[in-house]
Amino acid sequence: MADKKKVYSGVRATGRLHLGNYLGAVKGMIALQDGYDCIFSVVDLHAITTPYDPRTLKQSTRDVILDFLGAGLDPAKCLLEVQSKVPEHMELAYYLSTIFPVSKLEDLPTYKDKKALHPKYVNLGLLYYPVLMAADVLLYKGELVPVGIDQEPHLEVMREVARKFNGMFGKTFPEPQRFATEGEYVPSLMGPGKMSKSVTGSYILLTDDLDTIRRRLAGAPTDSGKAGGDVPTEGGVANLFVLMSLFGGRQMYQKFEQDYKEKKIRYSEMKDTLSELIYQELKPIQEKRKGFEENPELVDGIIQEGSEACRKRAQETIREVKEKMGLY
Ligand code: TYM
Repeated sequence: MADKKKVYSGVRATGRLHLGNYLGAVKGMIALQDGYDCIFSVVDLHAITTPYDPRTLKQSTRDVILDFLGAGLDPAKCLLEVQSKVPEHMELAYYLSTIFPVSKLEDLPTYKDKKALHPKYVNLGLLYYPVLMAADVLLYKGELVPVGIDQEPHLEVMREVARKFNGMFGKTFPEPQRFATEGEYVPSLMGPGKMSKSVTGSYILLTDDLDTIRRRLAGAPTDSGKAGGDVPTEGGVANLFVLMSLFGGRQMYQKFEQDYKEKKIRYSEMKDTLSELIYQELKPIQEKRKGFEENPELVDGIIQEGSEACRKRAQETIREVKEKMGLY
């Protein structure tokens, strides 16, 4: 595996995945696991920077692993890691934090968003978040990072940290690049913004059944009566069209686009078709997930073995970094 390009990605341990996570990140991971040296992680240390319940965190971590496995990540092809089982993430993050300015972290949009969302929970970990994320990838000398476009500011920090470290202590880290998928930005069902777990009504989960998908899509706003002309580029209708192109391909998109242009569009029909298309893609994922869910020992073993193998590699990087930084 040594000569293959290194890939790393992580998903916060916030429970079951939604279509944004799947299309923006997991599909990229699946595409890469065959030809690259891949590590995919559930980042529970990042999940504790915003309000959470310690009684359910382990289950949330497990839910992400189950969705990974259901979606087709294969432990024979990639390593699956639980971040807190590899404490070297925190160790490297500390070393890297000593070379990165606080002011740049305070300016990041993700930090500002989280601050606005949880004004009473602005902790040091939240500010430190991108440094820990840089450490996640650099710990394994990751070169490609399959993540959604919302993570680009974090990738920039990562590259800057790598450049700075290399400049100060000698070439050690690559400058990681984002691996983009077609669904790098999945919009919210509610209209503005992206599909997100923290916005009620904005998402569809990978584990949703057909009725639930229908119900969630039924709540998506449309602009009855305004059709005609080009398909809009923003708003509820635009978002339905984005999902239609992602799940129905060109042909389906064009059919509804034509209906829109000719003012024949019936959003109930479009939502119904879309529900079916989404469920068709999710059904096999749900079946596979169920198989793993029914075999908890197998899942425990996958987490344990993956994390142990990651830890060995992580320790090598830590040794190198300590040596270069002049630490004992
Ligand atoms: P997180 O947990 O918010 O999201 C996990 C992945 O899902 C992608 N994503 C989306 N993609 C397209 N459209 C959307 N609506 C959408 N919503 C979420 C995210 O881009 C991400 O790829 N900071 C990261 C976790 C992380 C990480 C890492 C990622 C920590 N360390 C190291 C890569 C490498 C995050 O919060 O992802």
